[in-house]
Amino acid sequence: MRFVDTIVKKREGKTLSTEEIREWIRGYVQGQIPDYQVSALLMAIVFQGMDARETYDLTMAMMNSGDLLDLSQIRGVTVDKHSTGGVGDKTTLVVAPMAAACGAKIAKMSGRGLGHTGGTLDKLESIPGFNCFLEKQAFFDQVNRIGLAIAGQTGNLVPADKKLYALRDVTGTVDSMPLIASSIMSKKLASGSSAIVLDVKYGSGAFMKTLEDAVALGREMMDIGRAAGRKVSVIVTDMDEPLGCAIGNALEVKEAIDTLCGRGPEDFTHLCLAVGSLMLVTAGIVRDEKQAQKRLEEVLANGAALEKFKAMVRAQGGDVSVVDDPRRLPKSRMTTELRARQDGCIDHMDAMNLGTLAMQIGAGRRTKDDAIEPETGIVLRAKVGDCVKEGQVLAQVCHNVPLEQEWIHGFYDSISLSGSPGQRRPLIREILT
Ligand code: URA
Repeated sequence: MRFVDTIVKKREGKTLSTEEIREWIRGYVQGQIPDYQVSALLMAIVFQGMDARETYDLTMAMMNSGDLLDLSQIRGVTVDKHSTGGVGDKTTLVVAPMAAACGAKIAKMSGRGLGHTGGTLDKLESIPGFNCFLEKQAFFDQVNRIGLAIAGQTGNLVPADKKLYALRDVTGTVDSMPLIASSIMSKKLASGSSAIVLDVKYGSGAFMKTLEDAVALGREMMDIGRAAGRKVSVIVTDMDEPLGCAIGNALEVKEAIDTLCGRGPEDFTHLCLAVGSLMLVTAGIVRDEKQAQKRLEEVLANGAALEKFKAMVRAQGGDVSVVDDPRRLPKSRMTTELRARQDGCIDHMDAMNLGTLAMQIGAGRRTKDDAIEPETGIVLRAKVGDCVKEGQVLAQVCHNVPLEQEWIHGFYDSISLSGSPGQRRPLIREILT
């Protein structure tokens, strides 16, 4: 069959066979099918969709396009978590050590940030000396020794996704449920953990703008994971306003350390406990959510989770003294306080805009080759539902070059004030188990 026939078939809304999907991925990875034909097929999928069987086949074809990480050397139950991405989302930095302190084995492959969303590796690299490049054996040994490791990809995992994602990024074909589900799940399945918790975000700062779409994506990914023999749970959470207060790499590491010390922002701490508890229950480490919460609260209170974080930083070459004293993290040349221009109550904060503003001052990348300035970003001093007085600090901005007027206007445009306290949207909307 010529590849053009596959494109036409999907354009006409028909269902692709398992063989056609495998041939597409094999031919594309091997360079036999050109980008322009794959772009056309991707666009046809954006408009026509894929059914559950096609999406599963696509996930499997992508997963099998490269190496598979065999975690059988790791003693204990391996648990992974994934967030579909958001602003201020430093959850992995807290839940990985918390879950490890409760006995889970966290062998986590993480990524870098692009656009308004941050990446776990960039955050960890703001700790002086922290090494995200671990050889496979060193990665396994570290997990066996201390219970967790967070690193960039080892080996050639899911090369199909690297090629396809780059193409989707420049052809307007990222926004497609089957393409997102197969992209995420192929990587999670190739990474080998037996239990996986997916944090699917919705709202202005997320891929999914509505709760319904986020639930549908969560279900789709859960079905794929279970069909592949893994234990999968989904938590659907709000990403309309940034998570916690800090946006920007070193700032988020500081907030993660504060949270591990039991003094993190309320919303972020609440999410960490919920995600951590789902990880323990999904992996079968505890009986139920109540027991999970109790164990997690214990490891926060007795410092065991913080010790796990420290052990990881030490094992990966990072400067552990920053954990004891986060003031030692990189600092921006300038800080500016932005104050409320009138009395009012915050009824909306646009996570996407705030993430983009943080990116513009160095906290993120416009293109994947941009360098990060880890010390830059925004720390919110008020959040949705808070009432402020004129002159009260709304945020502290950490930057290395003077802020432009347009940037400052952008900040104020991202925050809307009204006369009376607005409704805070619940952070956790659905849990699918
Ligand atoms: N994250 C991914 O890894 N893939 C997508 O397609 C979207 C978000």
